[in-house]
Amino acid sequence: MEIPGQAHIIVTGNEKGGSGKSTTAMHLIVGLMRAGHSVAAIDLDTRQGTLRRYILNRQAFTEDQKKDLPMPVLAEIEPSTDVNRDTAEVEDEENLTTTIAGLSATSDIVVIDTPGADSSLSRLGHSLADTLVTPLNDSFVDLDVLARIDGRSLNIDKPSHYAEMVWQQKMRRAKRDGGSMDWIVMRNRLSSLDARNKREMQRLLGDLSDRIGFRQVPGFGERVIFRELFLVGLTMLDLLDVLGEDSLTLSHVAARQEVRNLIDAVGL
Ligand SMILES: Nc1ncnc2c1ncn2[C@@H]1O[C@H](COP(=O)(O)OP(=O)(O)O)[C@@H](O)[C@H]1O
Ligand SMILES: [Mg+2]
Repeated sequence: MEIPGQAHIIVTGNEKGGSGKSTTAMHLIVGLMRAGHSVAAIDLDTRQGTLRRYILNRQAFTEDQKKDLPMPVLAEIEPSTDVNRDTAEVEDEENLTTTIAGLSATSDIVVIDTPGADSSLSRLGHSLADTLVTPLNDSFVDLDVLARIDGRSLNIDKPSHYAEMVWQQKMRRAKRDGGSMDWIVMRNRLSSLDARNKREMQRLLGDLSDRIGFRQVPGFGERVIFRELFLVGLTMLDLLDVLGEDSLTLSHVAARQEVRNLIDAVGL
């Protein structure tokens, strides 16, 4: 159930830093704009501000190069400075929900990027999600934030802190407006090597998805170009416009398809 007149909210989240939240958020934004949606962005990682910088880099690039690329609305959020934690939380919630209500007048999707650490603002962001996308590096170290894995049997012991936080925010959301969250876990930086690790991750995530209620979607391969695009504010989906068909490599085309698969899996 969605609130009538309110934009669909997609949150990228994972308590692990460096899992690809901001990169995924930017690719979702551009992919959804290219699919015909009007999209707004909110960066709740006010400390690193990667998504915000990414969008500002895109604005600078299009101005410098006189390129006409789809541009999201970037909303600025100032976290509350109230010393009382409870008051600050209430203020942040009012501030964010008012901002989203304002954005909903012109945007049908709002993408919210969150920090890679537990904070009240991050929890709040999660509690607003219609769709939560959690990118996960293909490593047991990163899987550990979702579930404790028994090292001897290589089976799931119990859900861990991030999974529990998501559960609590689902409850908070249900209580607030009766809405529900579609949780998607996406494996990121998949290597073309290490087939055994890949298989084990696949099996464990399969078991876990039933237990803690997410769906697994195919993610992005490990590609250097993801790191390079940030400075010019571009995504894999802009390369055709910027470089032209003849300059696209097979790797570009494969990466673009991975992003499209994610957009399709979100299913808006
Ligand atoms: N599929 C990928 N292949 C290669 N590098 C990636 C990929 N996804 C993300 N990265 C890089 O990993 C680093 C962390 O990504 P970022 O999106 O900032 O993660 P987070 O927001 O979760 O901290 C960045 O340097 C980014 O360019
Ligand atoms: Mg980030």
